[in-house]
Amino acid sequence: MLKLRGILNQRLLEAMAKALPLPQAVDPLLRPATKPEFGDFQANGAMGLAKVLDSPPRQIAQAVVDHLQVDDLCCPPQVAGPGFINLTIRPEVLAAEVQGRLKQPRLGVPMAEPRQRVVVDFSSPNIAKEMHVGHLRSTIIGDCIARVLSFRGHQVLRLNHLGDWGTQFGMLIAHLKNVAPQTLAGQENLDLGDLVEFYRQAKGCFDEDEVFQERSRREVVQLQAGAPESLRAWGLLCQRSRQAFQAIYDRLDVQLLERGESFYNGALPGVVEALEQAQLLVTDDGARCVFLQGITGKDGRPLPLIVQKRDGGYNYATTDLAAIRQRLTSPEAGGEGAERVIYVTDAGQSDHFAAVFQVAQRAGWVPPGCRLQHVPFGLVQGADGKKLKTRSGATVRLRDLLDEAVERARHDLVERLAQEQRQVTGEFIESVATAVGMAAVKYADLSQNRTTNYQFSFDRMLSLQGNTAPYLLYVYVRIQGIARKGGPLETPGPAAIYLNDPQELHLARQLLHFDEVILELEKDLLPNRLCTYLFGLSQSFNRFYDQLPVLKAPTQLRSTRIALCRLTAETLGLGLDLLGIKTIDRM
Ligand code: ARG
Repeated sequence: MLKLRGILNQRLLEAMAKALPLPQAVDPLLRPATKPEFGDFQANGAMGLAKVLDSPPRQIAQAVVDHLQVDDLCCPPQVAGPGFINLTIRPEVLAAEVQGRLKQPRLGVPMAEPRQRVVVDFSSPNIAKEMHVGHLRSTIIGDCIARVLSFRGHQVLRLNHLGDWGTQFGMLIAHLKNVAPQTLAGQENLDLGDLVEFYRQAKGCFDEDEVFQERSRREVVQLQAGAPESLRAWGLLCQRSRQAFQAIYDRLDVQLLERGESFYNGALPGVVEALEQAQLLVTDDGARCVFLQGITGKDGRPLPLIVQKRDGGYNYATTDLAAIRQRLTSPEAGGEGAERVIYVTDAGQSDHFAAVFQVAQRAGWVPPGCRLQHVPFGLVQGADGKKLKTRSGATVRLRDLLDEAVERARHDLVERLAQEQRQVTGEFIESVATAVGMAAVKYADLSQNRTTNYQFSFDRMLSLQGNTAPYLLYVYVRIQGIARKGGPLETPGPAAIYLNDPQELHLARQLLHFDEVILELEKDLLPNRLCTYLFGLSQSFNRFYDQLPVLKAPTQLRSTRIALCRLTAETLGLGLDLLGIKTIDRM
């Protein structure tokens, strides 16, 4: 109801100007009504004016109402409580809005003005290590944020800041030379088996064997110096990891542009130089660092952000500073020209980003109007409230986790099909199980407020009851079923929608809130808001459909109800798509 809200706001401003002796315009504080019985909107502005105008807020509200011209849109406005103005949109206005949405694929969501260039840095697992549930959260939440921003018309760059550089490559290359020297000579294809196991072995050697440690250190130096053989070994390791990551992204249907840490290697000395020139750099015990403002350690002294270690090496923070410069530099100068950069990682990295952002600010690398934003999320926990582990205590592999979701979805489906005595093809079972399994994993994550920890539970996420993906998908399927029985849900002609029954009105109102929910999500980057909305919408639809006949309703009512069915399906479809979830027509 963004458009209606905008008009009402304007009318309130006009009424206030006429009714109240105010030197300048004051915000009427128009908000969605806190309870349905108060109508659609309430204006809370009168309360704040009592002091200035030296009169009781109810009286102020009444004066505004006396001058308010909204008959074309609202039922007569009511002054309520201490001085709220309650506004209820007239049913025929709601009907016209519903009609308008049916012709509009954006369902009332305007394009952003101005459109921005936005970088979303998400997923970002580390080479030769397993992509873990934290990366899964980042991937799912980051993808949703990127989808919503693109839908709003922003130009979104989805960057995968892969951990593809660092001292760990020394031991990995040293180990690779031990176990597969032929590969490095180019004589054999590399088959490392499980790369994570390979990492464990390398780490084992490193921890136990001093000679190996020394070799690893030399390998790092050689790699950093660009020795061809080292680069080849590094490339092979990255290639293997990349394939494993890509398989996960394909299953999740997530697009990312790889822009690993190594991409910024050449820019690292420049970071230190620029900080030096900005006179921010201090040498502390041989390390080059910037002392932070307002970020202190336990002893109350400012903490340093180290950008170059004593041995001359650079670190995670240096790379992030180089990345910020690259992302905020204009395209003409070879950068990304982003106006907003969003980092989706676990809350454990909040301090890191606060420090890095501060240094970038102080170095003058953040042009006015540009925004760096960390979007933190909580931990994924097992049913015991501890970090998610397999039964044997090992870390959960994402591949296995997704497999299990699909497997359980398949099991539930087969059981239900047997109960309902339905005959279907194996292909049907496969595609539904895959869609439901993936949807369940994504939705379980997105429907939680991301800032809190969340408990991972296959049983809960796959349930057909409650705020789950299967519940929402089922409502969508239900509506497709109506369309199959009753013929396509055609858009009714003009004036064919009459909202009368409370269930119809309630559903229509909820449908019309979609635009506001998307704008809110764009602002606070909390996907759970959209989930809560879609869940509420689905519940309203189920009540509507359980209580009112649709296909068997008399002609006049039928077209209205079919229109509501259709708009519900479209809203669910678009909403789920923005969450990165694919709908299915049958299940
Ligand atoms: N690779 C990091 C990790 O696994 C995440 C990187 C996030 N992005 C960034 N620009 N620092 O924790």
